[in-house]
Amino acid sequence: MDEEIFKKTPGKTPNLNEYTKNQYSAEKQIEMWNGKINAAHNAIDRHCTTWRKNKIALIWEGEKEERKYTFNDLREETNRFANLLVELGIKKGDRAFIFLPRVPELYIGFLGIVKTGAIAGTMFSAFGPDAIKDRLKDSGASILITNSELKKRVDAVRHELPELRHIILTDSEKATHDTIPFSEAKKMPDKFDVARMDPEENAFMLYTSGTTGKPKGVVHCHWAIMHQHMTAKWVLDLQDDDIYWCTADPGWVTGIAYEILGNWSNGATTLVHEGRFDPEKWYSLIQKHKVTIWYTAPTAIRMLMQSGESYKKYDMSSLRHMCSVGEPLNPEAIRWGIKAFGLAFHDTWWQTETGGMLICNYICLDMKIGSMGKPFPGITASIVDDAGKELPIGEEGNLAIKPGWPSMMKVIWNNPKKYEEYFKGGWYISGDRAKMDKDGYFWFIGRADDVIKTAGERVGPFEVESALIEHKAVAEAGVIGKPDPTRGEIIKAFLKLRPGFSPSPQLENEIKEFIKSRLAGHAYPREIAFVESLPKTRSGKIMRRVLKARELGLPVGDLSTLEEY
Ligand code: WT7
Repeated sequence: MDEEIFKKTPGKTPNLNEYTKNQYSAEKQIEMWNGKINAAHNAIDRHCTTWRKNKIALIWEGEKEERKYTFNDLREETNRFANLLVELGIKKGDRAFIFLPRVPELYIGFLGIVKTGAIAGTMFSAFGPDAIKDRLKDSGASILITNSELKKRVDAVRHELPELRHIILTDSEKATHDTIPFSEAKKMPDKFDVARMDPEENAFMLYTSGTTGKPKGVVHCHWAIMHQHMTAKWVLDLQDDDIYWCTADPGWVTGIAYEILGNWSNGATTLVHEGRFDPEKWYSLIQKHKVTIWYTAPTAIRMLMQSGESYKKYDMSSLRHMCSVGEPLNPEAIRWGIKAFGLAFHDTWWQTETGGMLICNYICLDMKIGSMGKPFPGITASIVDDAGKELPIGEEGNLAIKPGWPSMMKVIWNNPKKYEEYFKGGWYISGDRAKMDKDGYFWFIGRADDVIKTAGERVGPFEVESALIEHKAVAEAGVIGKPDPTRGEIIKAFLKLRPGFSPSPQLENEIKEFIKSRLAGHAYPREIAFVESLPKTRSGKIMRRVLKARELGLPVGDLSTLEEY
């Protein structure tokens, strides 16, 4: 293995051994009531009995305005909203979902739901009606918070969602036959009796994709905040004088764990940018708010690299620490960070299912550029074979974790069998392939399954294929992730057309638009190839592995089970 090492100078750096000590005295970090807990109380309310009460918790950069909320503001607003939910009949364990862009109501709504003891679910605002239907139907959500524009996509599938009782709209002032304005919360008391939960009780959920089947509802418990708190503290190094910016969307797990829970649990002033990615806007936000800690993703970093040297026009000197997550962080991106900002992006590895960072680079640790780093203290990671047996150092295999860390998913909603499938030979099997070197650093190799990572977002090929065959021209569809220098991977679809349809650029565009509007704006195939036939097993399963090998010009491997080729 080629090793390019980024040396750290010792100084004011977190000492990881402290974590192991502190881990066993959780009460010092997390506030509990005789063994009971609430994650939202820990994120917000408990700061309000300290000097942090009037500290800025949220700096919100909206499209048109900027707003600031102190911890006490958020305590009161989330209490009011929780009271509204109770008035609407919400009960412990109910599912309440949020389908919003990054507006303050998303954050207030999420914490308000968690305060009541219900389960808060999030959906990325690029989702279309099909994706929304799958999630709301499977979770049996009874309450949805959204806005008038996004509600149109819900209306298209509302008849299939009998359990959805209330829709709360952030941008309306008047109740209608099927909606309640979010602003009703203003009339509610600012005090709320926060639900005291068992640590293992459910707090939030979000849907994520696997190789086959519909997206899975990954559910996390209140105790997850313990791990989110500790990792935010030791990996992000959040301190009281920091201005922290996480560029993720709470439709994905990073935006929940480190833009709501772990960050605020540490009392960190957090910047949220409503708008989309834009290099100059991003630099100007860092300059304007004097951002010190920045948590972002490889695709964004690569896009910044490609946008030239515009960072030179802005004052980036406030930055003191940068981290990355979601997909492989290539060495060029790290080298560029060092050149542009004098700082290295610190890679972190984790998943929706793990609820928090597990393998990371740390301020105090020399960085092997290109490695994901080392397991967080208290976490045992290893490389195992398909039977769950540990493999020798340097060998490629399945990246596996010893179960039992505080933010490990508790349930796959409605699907205990899927949950069980993650565990083998006493290990949680991540679905990633990796190796570990002699110094204990982990190196990412790729996914062990067909899951696609496009611009850091996880997409299941089955979901895209199912949406594609809904189009009248498509008879069969096979979908793969094709390597892309900027986005990591792009979605490529191989389509066999129905009789009477023939390939054309118009048809290609029509199909792309169809997927964008039905499934999701980010999960459409950027490339389409029309084919005469698709490689299939005798039982009729499309062999994506063959499509991918052909696309990449690699050996296709054993084809003995192929029926069509
Ligand atoms: C998958 C999980 C964790 C929050 C966002 C993603 C890939 C994640 C890295 C990394 C290489 C990474 C893996 C993983 N991934 N971090 N540092 N290096 N790959 O959560 O959507 O559940 O995706 O993202 O393949 O399994 P997610």
